Amino acid sequence: MTWSTRLALFSLISIVSGCAHPPAREAAAPAPTPAAPAPAPAPAEPPRPDRYVPREGPVPSIAQTYDGVFLVGAAVTPGQVLMGSTHEFIARHFNVIVAENEMKPVMLSRREGQYDFNMADQLVDWAVKNEIKVRGHTLVWHQQAAPWMFTKDGKDVSRDVLIARMRAYIHAVVGHFKGRVWAWDVVNEAFAPGEPNVETVGGWRKSDFYRIIGPEFIELAFRFAHEADPDALLFYNDYATEQPAKRALILELVRDLQKKGVPIHGVGHQTHVYLSSPPVEDLEQTIQEVAKLGLRNHVTEMDVSLRTGWGRPVEDAEDDLLFQLQAERYAKFFQMFVRNKDKIDAVLVWGLSDEHSWLRPPDAPLLFSEMQPKPAFWAVIDEGLRAKKK
Ligand code: XIL
Repeated sequence: MTWSTRLALFSLISIVSGCAHPPAREAAAPAPTPAAPAPAPAPAEPPRPDRYVPREGPVPSIAQTYDGVFLVGAAVTPGQVLMGSTHEFIARHFNVIVAENEMKPVMLSRREGQYDFNMADQLVDWAVKNEIKVRGHTLVWHQQAAPWMFTKDGKDVSRDVLIARMRAYIHAVVGHFKGRVWAWDVVNEAFAPGEPNVETVGGWRKSDFYRIIGPEFIELAFRFAHEADPDALLFYNDYATEQPAKRALILELVRDLQKKGVPIHGVGHQTHVYLSSPPVEDLEQTIQEVAKLGLRNHVTEMDVSLRTGWGRPVEDAEDDLLFQLQAERYAKFFQMFVRNKDKIDAVLVWGLSDEHSWLRPPDAPLLFSEMQPKPAFWAVIDEGLRAKKK
């Protein structure tokens, strides 16, 4: 790759992360007075390629590095906590986990009234034994739903029946894990304003829950979860929470639930992001506005794809450079999380190592590859060390 492509890639990152110089506007700018000449702008510098190289000595624990700042976690599978040496790796680096799939309705309940908690229990029991907190993901979602939830004899069930089924499901599942799950993603991805190929009504996703029950499905789900475990923290979770339209819908939902006295404790920001989008500041704004309403924030599913944006191909650059840019991006997000540590209780990544990621190669979005630390890992460690010094 040519040097100019490197610079172009770097400026893409700098612009969105707010560290680039604004474009020159000589024609419009007033001439500087002789007494106060404008300082010459420093040239944009490409990242130092050796910035996030492996360090000597033992690999530090991420959770320990962030001890007293916020919890750090990852999405895991029961196999990873039960087999081989991965459980040591997880217990070393993380103090909160979430099941990537095993606590979703399709995995817990194949038939009405029947539940199989075997795999999920193994994961949760392991976490409890190791004093690791568990995020429960997720109770009400349009994907990976329980296959029996919406129909009977091939037809949609009535509103009343769906409410009764949703209540039964939430009571069974939250009740089963009562006292062992720290926080639940009660509702996942209810909004999709302006999203292509998604049917929406005023920004609300026309999921089966919305279609059959109407928008009240959310408050009902939160009430049912609270009945089943009054001590569990209850979250609304979504992707692209930084987008202004989605931010507005989430804040409106929270205000509405609060007005009605519905228990909601936090907003989960999935944070599946790319090398150059979205802007870190946009997510920061959502986090701050959520906090203004008195709610907590969790970053629930973070990963940083090597693509520059949604649907774009991975740039044709050497892995080394892309991994440095990815590290810069992780650094910017973690700087923001640290700035807002009084509003954020936990930051979780969506998988342990690139080869486990739900995003297939070439996205390579996580902190480890083949379970070895990537530059992104060192970037996260550096920000943690800096946070501790403050
Ligand atoms: C993904 C899992 O990672 C995949 O293994 C599965 O096939 C589909 O679901 N948002 C969410 C997560 O809330 O539950 C999704 O997890 C990723 C996007």
